[in-house]
Amino acid sequence: MLRLLKKQGKASCMILFIAIFLVSLHTVYSETGAGTDADAKISAIISQMTLEEKIVMLHGSSLFNSAGIERLGIEEMKFTDGPFGIREELGRNSWAPVGATDDSATFLPTGPALAATWNNTLALEYGKCIGAEARARGKDVLLGPALNIFRTPLCGRNFDYFTEDPFLNAGITVGYVKGVQSQDVAACLKHYALNNQETERGRIDVQVDERALREIYLYGFEAGIKQGGALTVMGSYNKFRGAWLCENDYLMNKMLKGEWGFKGLVVSDWGATHSSVNSALYGLDVEMGGRGSGPDAYFMGSALLKAVQEGQVDEKIIDEKVRRILHVMFSIKKQQPDRATGAINTPEHRQTVYNVAAEAIVLLKNSAGVLPLNVDKVHTLAVFGDNAMEKHAQGGFGAGVKAKYEITPLAGLQNRLQDKVKINYAQGYKKQFQQTPGGRRFFGAPAPDNTPDTTLIQEAVKIAKSSDAVVIFAGSNRNFESEARDRTDLQLPFGQVELIQAVAAVNPNTVVVMITGAAFDLSVVEKSVSALLWSSFNGSEAGNAYADVLFGKVNPSGKLPYTIPVKLDDIAAHALGTFPGENGKAEYKESILVGYRWFDTKGIEPLYCFGHGLSYSTFEINSVKTDKSKYTQDGTIDVKVTVKNTGQTAGTETIQLYVHDTEASVMRPQKELKGYAKLFLQPGKKQDVHIKIPVKDLAFYSDTAMQWVVEPGQFELLAGFSSRDIHKTTLITVK
Ligand code: BGC
Repeated sequence: MLRLLKKQGKASCMILFIAIFLVSLHTVYSETGAGTDADAKISAIISQMTLEEKIVMLHGSSLFNSAGIERLGIEEMKFTDGPFGIREELGRNSWAPVGATDDSATFLPTGPALAATWNNTLALEYGKCIGAEARARGKDVLLGPALNIFRTPLCGRNFDYFTEDPFLNAGITVGYVKGVQSQDVAACLKHYALNNQETERGRIDVQVDERALREIYLYGFEAGIKQGGALTVMGSYNKFRGAWLCENDYLMNKMLKGEWGFKGLVVSDWGATHSSVNSALYGLDVEMGGRGSGPDAYFMGSALLKAVQEGQVDEKIIDEKVRRILHVMFSIKKQQPDRATGAINTPEHRQTVYNVAAEAIVLLKNSAGVLPLNVDKVHTLAVFGDNAMEKHAQGGFGAGVKAKYEITPLAGLQNRLQDKVKINYAQGYKKQFQQTPGGRRFFGAPAPDNTPDTTLIQEAVKIAKSSDAVVIFAGSNRNFESEARDRTDLQLPFGQVELIQAVAAVNPNTVVVMITGAAFDLSVVEKSVSALLWSSFNGSEAGNAYADVLFGKVNPSGKLPYTIPVKLDDIAAHALGTFPGENGKAEYKESILVGYRWFDTKGIEPLYCFGHGLSYSTFEINSVKTDKSKYTQDGTIDVKVTVKNTGQTAGTETIQLYVHDTEASVMRPQKELKGYAKLFLQPGKKQDVHIKIPVKDLAFYSDTAMQWVVEPGQFELLAGFSSRDIHKTTLITVK
């Protein structure tokens, strides 16, 4: 900033004075947090600004930047997508890439992959990696994490999100946010809130009861603010209870900035602003994605200036917004000499994306012990499927990453196996879309062509017959699952099911690896093969991670972050006919019974349950004990779980702790996740793991008392390796 001031030459003493304030502010913030002293200094800066200058800071100055004030040496705030890598540079006022040669970045595994690790520490590392890359690209705000709850598997954007469970969502979000912000970049919790579908996202009015709102949909956001300290939040496109999110007094002013004490800024999703006065009054701080460029293109530009001049909006409200923006700038040390400078694609970043990718792979089924494949026995390996060669860093509508590199599954196998195993690749099925206008869906997306390609299948069958083992990389891709549109059904696209059936019929050693962002109908695939792996779009190191899991260098430990149903109607929103809503309204009639909460409570058998994931080893829980039997409301339950690796292979298991409220005055789900921990154990070894559950986490949100309530009485703690593989239980009492 000082450099800039010098360049201007005509810097007045006042400007220099403010600049010194800005520098000293950073010190105040780092030493004392956002204390009174810092606030006083921010007030002094605001007092030097004209109304016009203040308004300028409240909207975009280009597609991804919001304006600074040159006179005061305050630079633009630079936003970037997010959430799984730093987006390539786009034009200042155009969505077209500028075609730069220095804007590639690491492609991190997408949301469900990170959640499938059930590893909050890895989420922290993930955040550090993406934060450092944002910094290296000169960015201030990373538009991530994206943490909307999986309400339906059809949501086109589930691949961006984490899970159906609020507790897991919170754990991963907090790690991610802390990691990003440790790099002097602000994280942005998006999309706040209830953006659980893409169908009509720009006008849908979500109706959800208070209890589900708090227990399910806001839980991760609240944790991201209170525990993670997220500095920015993105207001989503949809409405809630009749009001647009970017002018939602209840969710923005009362909840976020009031109850949760959020001090940072709220930015609109791109083009999600609908008014000047209401947005200003009801919570929005920065409008992005205007209808063109210049202040007239923004509701929070010329029109807002006029509204303030006419007295419709008090200037104090504008001051408060500028205060929030400055608070973010100081918290990320913007324009400070000691700000982190970041780096792209370092060996540490590559290690992090590999670690996440490897821990994210879920072993759904391994009934005949086909896996791990053994290099001494598998001399010829057939590799099939479009996804063996497909890259997932980009595709569809919305943000992607111009990946520095992306190792495909086939390349990963070649890397790892070299000449030890002969690989025979055939495509087997190919991604194909019907380009007829009748087949097009929302946002011009083509419908998949699901006709099996018999020539490709015959070629694959022939190769499969003469191979020792087969791996089929199947599933979906980023063109099929995309922002701005939902899928219409659970069907696996492109005729791949027929390929899998035909190949499995001639080779019993057939392994299927599903690469998708959400659940699909696996009923036929599951019956056809004895070994099935599952992952999300798995980042730059995906191929190496698949190869290591397939050949046993890595013992799989991923756990499903969402339920895979037998059929779509088993999902609450579909069973109750409330997706995608009617007449512009989506009523979440299932209330808190989202994901496994619905399946367990209604006694519906899923194909694969939430939290499921096998290992090449076996584990058992010998005991689960609590430090006491009775707890007070402010206590913490220390749960000791003793786990043993009963198999032949070293491996990691995730201990999942669910709670069942045995005597509640309100309906409670059959079980709710309240703790998890990962443990690496050598074969035959036994170890204790302690999981702490604050008693307050046993609460439900009472919509009569309008507060969180822990009812005295008995609670059952269930310890297991998935939501349906419960090994031991114990009871405690809350006084
Ligand atoms: C998406 C956001 C994204 C923004 C900017 C919107 O369409 O919903 O997630 O950050 O565009 O690219």
